[in-house]
Amino acid sequence: MIHKFDAIVVGAGGAGLRCALELTEQNYNVAVVSKLYPVRSHTGAAQGGIGAALGSEEEDHPEWHMFDTVKGSDYLGDQDAIEILANEAVEAVMELEHFGLPFNRTKEGKIAQRPFGGHTRAFGEAPVKRACYAADRTGHMILHTLFEQCVKNKVRFFNEFYVLDLILKDDVCFGVIAYELATGELHVFQSKVVFLGTGGYGRVFSITSNAHALTGDGMAIAFRRGLPLEDMEFVQFHPTGLRKLGILVSEAARGEGGILRNREDLDNIGTGKDGFMAAVAPTVKDLAPRDMVSRAIYNEIKAGRGIMGTGDTGSDYIYLDLVHLGAKVINEKLPDISHFARKYLAVEPIKEPIPVQPTAHYAMGGLPTDNDGRVLKDAAANPVEGLYAAGEVACVSVHGANRLGTNSLVDIVVFGRRAARDMSRYLKDAEFEEIDADPEAFVAGEIDRLKNGSGNEKVADLRKEMQSVMMSKSGVYRTEENLEEARKTVLELRRRYQQVSVKDSSLYFNTELVEAIELGHLLDVAWTIAESALQRTESRGAHSRVDYPDRDDKQWLKHTFIRKLGDDKVEFDYKPVVITKFQPKPRVY
Ligand code: FUM
Repeated sequence: MIHKFDAIVVGAGGAGLRCALELTEQNYNVAVVSKLYPVRSHTGAAQGGIGAALGSEEEDHPEWHMFDTVKGSDYLGDQDAIEILANEAVEAVMELEHFGLPFNRTKEGKIAQRPFGGHTRAFGEAPVKRACYAADRTGHMILHTLFEQCVKNKVRFFNEFYVLDLILKDDVCFGVIAYELATGELHVFQSKVVFLGTGGYGRVFSITSNAHALTGDGMAIAFRRGLPLEDMEFVQFHPTGLRKLGILVSEAARGEGGILRNREDLDNIGTGKDGFMAAVAPTVKDLAPRDMVSRAIYNEIKAGRGIMGTGDTGSDYIYLDLVHLGAKVINEKLPDISHFARKYLAVEPIKEPIPVQPTAHYAMGGLPTDNDGRVLKDAAANPVEGLYAAGEVACVSVHGANRLGTNSLVDIVVFGRRAARDMSRYLKDAEFEEIDADPEAFVAGEIDRLKNGSGNEKVADLRKEMQSVMMSKSGVYRTEENLEEARKTVLELRRRYQQVSVKDSSLYFNTELVEAIELGHLLDVAWTIAESALQRTESRGAHSRVDYPDRDDKQWLKHTFIRKLGDDKVEFDYKPVVITKFQPKPRVY
């Protein structure tokens, strides 16, 4: 079946919805094509807040927000993009409020704000209240608010349509191919312009805060079509996932005063006394950026100060202590995470500490874009005409080597809207083009191979091996030897993937087939992570090489571009970091 729209927005998370909303304001004919029902998108899992220097509770300035983001990124973030992020965050948050988002309030009725990791006043003096929040459901509220606005503006939704390919001709994008989950039918979506807002790839790792659907789809389909991916070595591990499950326990818990404790600190539970982070980051303590906190937790565990000590199977976690906050704060400001602790670990956070461990959380890398969301086809910043991206699938790059908490929600609304505005400009002169007679042939061939192949490999086996090797060899700490093992294993798994065959032949919600397709995407993304991490011989932000422990600004103050050359070959290119106001300095907190 063929559909024609001026613009196709792929993905119904915050970036996609914000983009679609803006395009309908300009009266374009827009369709949102989404693997999930929109309000199940992963934006809904963002908990603690959206950063903006509103100054509701104390003095704050966009320039301080910019500085913190640059420093948090370990100086790899592009400062022109970060300046846009920090400046436009204020208007973007007010706009969300006017759309009806129910933010928490101060006594005076202003939008309430809380501290978050790496956000400081006066260029690093002390934590500042910058995260605007709706309890610990901020992303959920953003998602629902934007969805309501899109429904009001009559955006056309194709829900549970899984986009599997781009229609590209001479580096110009004219649409996408999607698989309809309810019927097994392939659809051709022809358009003048396409926006990708498909999110991240947390499911590459065995412990992740990401939902099952986060399988790197947008990155993988572009990479297969020869487009580069940027900074794939930078994977954020959030310090506090529920032990073993990885489910997010918001940084807002530490923003409200929560403290991380090791096994030597158990007597201090409920006292509010400093924990081990006070020695790691004396100024901001438990509110250091995520890369530092995740490493600190690993260091505690390695030194035998994990809750169960060293050497036994339960040695991989520490405690998050909220007891001293009291029932009122916990129930009113952190209701969701308290519920998760009770429900999944049978822990009552009002009385006991929560067992936590670092969890794969966020992709700093992705499809390279310029500041207007145009996807770049090379490190010289030439755009792919008609293709845009924003949010976690993209790398603009505002997060550099390490994202600050709350900045992902800013990213989706600021750059989703900016992309839409440039798409409107582009649409003024764009036309529908003739496309190939059979644009879905590639996807149809892949589905046929998976459904009718005679191989005996199973999706669950390959996925488990990939997640395990990526978690243990390409996680918080990395070495050449480990990364090489991850790379080789992933390449071998990609070969074995050719022997996967799906037993379920049905057309109606064939989840076995969908998981097989998703695994193909995950394996491609895992490959780019391992390759990119191997070549970056320094430690910066979330990329921590034990064999190259220092940041090396001489060699590596640049973005990695990785491109597929063949079945098991990639090539690299590099793009300089944009530095405007803040010269790289050692990162001390
Ligand atoms: O900890 C959190 O609430 C997560 C927020 C984020 O990733 O920005």
